[in-house]
Amino acid sequence: MKKRVLSGIQPSGSLHIGYYFGMIKRMIEYQESSDLFCFIANLHSLTTISDKSVLKKMTLDAAMDFLALGLNPKKCYFWVQSDVPETTELAWILSTLAPIGLMERAHSYKDKIAKGVQPNLGLFNYPILMAADILINQSDVVPVGKDQKQHIEMARDIAIKFNNTFGNIFTIPEPEIPKEIAVIPGTDGQKMSKSYKNTIPIFAEPNVIKKAVMGIVTDSKGIDEPKKAEGNTVYELYKLFASKKEADEMKKAFKKGGMGYGDAKKMLLEKIQKTFEPFQKKRKELENHPKKVETILAHGAEKVTEVTHQTMQKVRKATGLKY
Ligand code: ADP
Ligand code: TRP
Repeated sequence: MKKRVLSGIQPSGSLHIGYYFGMIKRMIEYQESSDLFCFIANLHSLTTISDKSVLKKMTLDAAMDFLALGLNPKKCYFWVQSDVPETTELAWILSTLAPIGLMERAHSYKDKIAKGVQPNLGLFNYPILMAADILINQSDVVPVGKDQKQHIEMARDIAIKFNNTFGNIFTIPEPEIPKEIAVIPGTDGQKMSKSYKNTIPIFAEPNVIKKAVMGIVTDSKGIDEPKKAEGNTVYELYKLFASKKEADEMKKAFKKGGMGYGDAKKMLLEKIQKTFEPFQKKRKELENHPKKVETILAHGAEKVTEVTHQTMQKVRKATGLKY
């Protein structure tokens, strides 16, 4: 049997290169080799967005992003989280098994508190809903970035506890975090993240992308001075787009001296433009046909409900909720 691979994306604004290499690219490759489950986590977004038009727009935008980047709804399950209410039913059931202590140790929750965010209960419960997303589809593998690793571990803990309490119903999921692309750096060298305002967007106007690339922070070494390649943001990003040979060439040129940051940035910009141009075209097409996107999502929800329904029948029986 093919492996079930599942991941979700929070519709939270313009898509950046960190997302793409951290998640989307791998997901799209998976649709050829696995049973891919890919969804837009709009219920998770509700923990931070309370404006209906913003959430609606972001949800459709995220769908168009995925479709433009090559997700094929015929080859995978592709839906919007809130279109499958059984997930929230499972989240409630799982919450009755989740120790508060486990939840309080969640880094992402603690980070948000440390930053002064006034937490709502949804934010605290975020990992439970994530566990429900994963377990309801009996996922084997969950490709995510490093920052989500702990959430997958929590899903595993909860699944094991459920299986021990009520019988063996859930597949225990494995996170998949490839080392070499674990963290994509942003223009300031920190993790690329929209909350740090250091992103290189994929579907922005060309001058916006150019400004982001040319604004990458570097040291002030002159053209002729030898420079380090590893840890140098321009090189680290170039490596993602270039062939091994091209990346090695840039590395050598940096080490030897004679390669300025400005020229390297131009090389990077060119690679970014070439890579994303066809996707940008497809994205424009989809923007002109939003109804088509909505139909794809409605079909996706129907298709995945066949899977979630099977799991939930078992869960309801095993817990005594089906009397
Ligand atoms: P952001 O940090 O911009 O808010 P998210 O945390 O919502 O992005 O990440 C969405 C998905 O993409 C997650 O699976 C995350 O791990 C991955 N991802 C986002 N940014 C990066 C990055 N810079 N490097 C690696 N993966 C990333
Ligand atoms: N929390 C994930 C993120 O920030 C999105 C997400 C929601 C998810 N549910 C999931 C990822 C289940 C993997 C599996 O991107």
